[in-house]
Amino acid sequence: MILPVFLYGSPVLRKVATETPVGYPGLEEFISSLFETMYQSDGVGLAAPQVGKSLRIFVIDASPLEEDDPSLKDFKKVFINPEIISYEGDKSTYNEGCLSIPDIREDVEREAAIRIRYCDTSFEYREEYYEGIAARIIQHEYDHLEGKLFTDRISPLKKRLLRRKLTSISKGKVDVKYRVKHL
Ligand code: NI
Repeated sequence: MILPVFLYGSPVLRKVATETPVGYPGLEEFISSLFETMYQSDGVGLAAPQVGKSLRIFVIDASPLEEDDPSLKDFKKVFINPEIISYEGDKSTYNEGCLSIPDIREDVEREAAIRIRYCDTSFEYREEYYEGIAARIIQHEYDHLEGKLFTDRISPLKKRLLRRKLTSISKGKVDVKYRVKHL
């Protein structure tokens, strides 16, 4: 089911999401809906709070970015109750966008590599290492579970310049092809 994407300014985007309990009812269907919603809006990642559910789950399918990084070809995954356990390497900067903040893209500095522990859809724990664009997307989605948005990671000056635009987004004034919801 395609779900509406909650826009910047929605309180659910600012909450720290809660752990997903084992046996959460309708989990499988919810995960399919996350993928469906993400594909419909041409995103490469989507976190549960973005569809109004404050749960620690996000999905990623970075295969559209294969041209930029061939290793992303098969990077399609569900992360349940993830925990970034270490940051490795240097910092890197990349131009980010977010389905909850349409039409805004900014350079964001993040860690270049991470190690993450999470549950797969069978609630089996996995631990993996990611770098490059994959590490970037994971950190962006992980932030959503912590109630953070990429605009929190840009300079106060840049944020000031975006203020008017962010205010109109929070009022639902956006021109996108996907279904959105504000507040
Ligand atoms: Ni986002």
